[in-house]
Amino acid sequence: MSHHKADSQQYLVSAFLQSLCVLCVLCVSVVSFSHDVIHHRDTKYTEIHRVNFEETPLATSSAQIPSEFSNPNLEVLLSQEKLQSRIRELGAEITRDYAGQNPLLIGVLKGACFFLSDLLRAIDTRLSIEFMAISSYGSSTRTSGEVRIMKDLDVPIEGRHILVVEDIVDTGLTLSYLLANLQSRGAASVKLAALLDKYERREKDVKIDYLGFPIPDAFVVGYGLDYAERYRNLPFIAVLKNPEA
Ligand code: IMP
Ligand code: MG
Repeated sequence: MSHHKADSQQYLVSAFLQSLCVLCVLCVSVVSFSHDVIHHRDTKYTEIHRVNFEETPLATSSAQIPSEFSNPNLEVLLSQEKLQSRIRELGAEITRDYAGQNPLLIGVLKGACFFLSDLLRAIDTRLSIEFMAISSYGSSTRTSGEVRIMKDLDVPIEGRHILVVEDIVDTGLTLSYLLANLQSRGAASVKLAALLDKYERREKDVKIDYLGFPIPDAFVVGYGLDYAERYRNLPFIAVLKNPEA
């Protein structure tokens, strides 16, 4: 009887020791597996990072792709900071003048898009926007005053307060036609916001109600203004030193 009891005790002890061993092996496997997983993920993450880090300087390397913003043919006339701070002032003035009037701002494509987009966000009153595209006949440097509307408004403007937003007033021929055209459609009021005024070249009187900057008689590009569709993307206004270059 006591012999049988000793046997079963011995059996229990050996079964306990065996289970302990199995448990230990399991624990070691789990720890080493999770270490592998974490390590593998770390390695992959580092690889992704390294690839991107190495590609970035290549894509923007000034040695391979010349920078348009620091093109030596450009001489900065109005910096990004100057433009933005003047536009904030104009926005505050327009906010005060048009409060409660629900004005319709009309941007003249394509040049005025940038000015319109920044000006809009500085006007804190209810408003809506429309676009018009205009082409004027004449040589490449001089408009004849004969204007054609390429894209007209999609809405009637009778009784509306209109604020035309334009990039630059040069001879004034295009805008004097446009402002008269809008007034003849029965608008309640028609005013003009222009970022730049090349006043020395004026041929037709145009009243600029909200002016960014008067500028000298030079061909300027950037911030929407182009030379043969180039330079619109500059965040500043620059004088183009040599248009042929
Ligand atoms: P204007 O006032 O009828 O002579 O025409 C003004 C238009 O001529 C503007 O909307 C511009 O598209 C263009 N323009 C006049 N001066 C410049 C300039 O210096 N750079 C780029 N575009 C100009
Ligand atoms: Mg224009």
